[in-house]
Amino acid sequence: MRRRAFVHLALLAAVIAAATTAIAVLIPWLPVSASTQRDRIDATYWLATGIAIFIFSIVAAAIIYSVWRFRAHPDDDSDGPPIHGHTGLEIVWTAIPTALVTAIAIMSAIVLHDNGDVPKNALHVNVTAEQFTWVFEYTDGPAKGITSPNLYMPVNRAMELEITAKDVLHSFWVPQFGQKQDAVPGRINPLLITPTKLGSYPVICTELCGLGHALMRRTAIVMSANDFAGKKWATGLPGGPTSGGGGSGGGSAGETAFKSNGCGSCHTLTAAHATGTVGPDLDKLPQEARGAGQPLPLFVHQSIVDPNAYIAPGYPAGVMPGNFGQVISKPDLAALVQYLVQSSEGGGK
Ligand code: CUA
Repeated sequence: MRRRAFVHLALLAAVIAAATTAIAVLIPWLPVSASTQRDRIDATYWLATGIAIFIFSIVAAAIIYSVWRFRAHPDDDSDGPPIHGHTGLEIVWTAIPTALVTAIAIMSAIVLHDNGDVPKNALHVNVTAEQFTWVFEYTDGPAKGITSPNLYMPVNRAMELEITAKDVLHSFWVPQFGQKQDAVPGRINPLLITPTKLGSYPVICTELCGLGHALMRRTAIVMSANDFAGKKWATGLPGGPTSGGGGSGGGSAGETAFKSNGCGSCHTLTAAHATGTVGPDLDKLPQEARGAGQPLPLFVHQSIVDPNAYIAPGYPAGVMPGNFGQVISKPDLAALVQYLVQSSEGGGK
């Protein structure tokens, strides 16, 4: 009789374990991993998930079995039999969870150590967060001296980000890389990332930092070591190679600057098929310039490098990043101004 009860319990637990394992494995709960550090974090997750499935299956099986096997008849109003605890059972169900939680703690400590252990050949990047953008400055390696609004990384090479903030608290996160780090004014917080997959991933600010917080996004681009060392990606960026005349691959230099700096995520500009509504409509730049009492090219230039000098009626100050004058190279800035002047005059008529 006891043996049959045990078989029933075990079967029930196996069915529940199979179902919960399927839910854990078949549904893609997490974004794909694209770094060594994220692989380690995921391994910790799977250990904890496996333990949770194991415990849950036993507990759920015992509950379902008891409800089914020991249910009282509807007319049975008597008390249940008086029982005492079972010391042996209590020792077992205390010892096993203690061992499991200790295992998770040990694994977490190892992963935490490994994920902060910067190898000697790591590249270094100064990361500065500010309302509402990121700036990446390469301090060694083939890209030394380059400043970029996006994070370019060679694949399979450790990169140490030295993260700080100019104004308020921000936080650096790329979901596919796993690691997360606060950006704090006056402090430099390190973060190690070794990307393992080519591709583009979102750089996200995960600390509520003001009106533009949700828009504080950039891109991390993982490329081959050769492409990274070739520095074509840095063409036109401060510290990077200068463009060899003529925009490469369709679109003018101004249009390229408009797109690579994410202008379209906040602004509308018909010529660029941009439909953002956070900031002023750039098709109406000529009217705005008249309102500000300035010639159009001067007004456009000032609005990019010093966005708070003139605030369009109906829009709050301090939303547009104030550092475009530093992250966009001089030639690109000139091209961008020219592009905006031409596009808005064309579209405004
Ligand atoms: Cu920066 Cu949120």
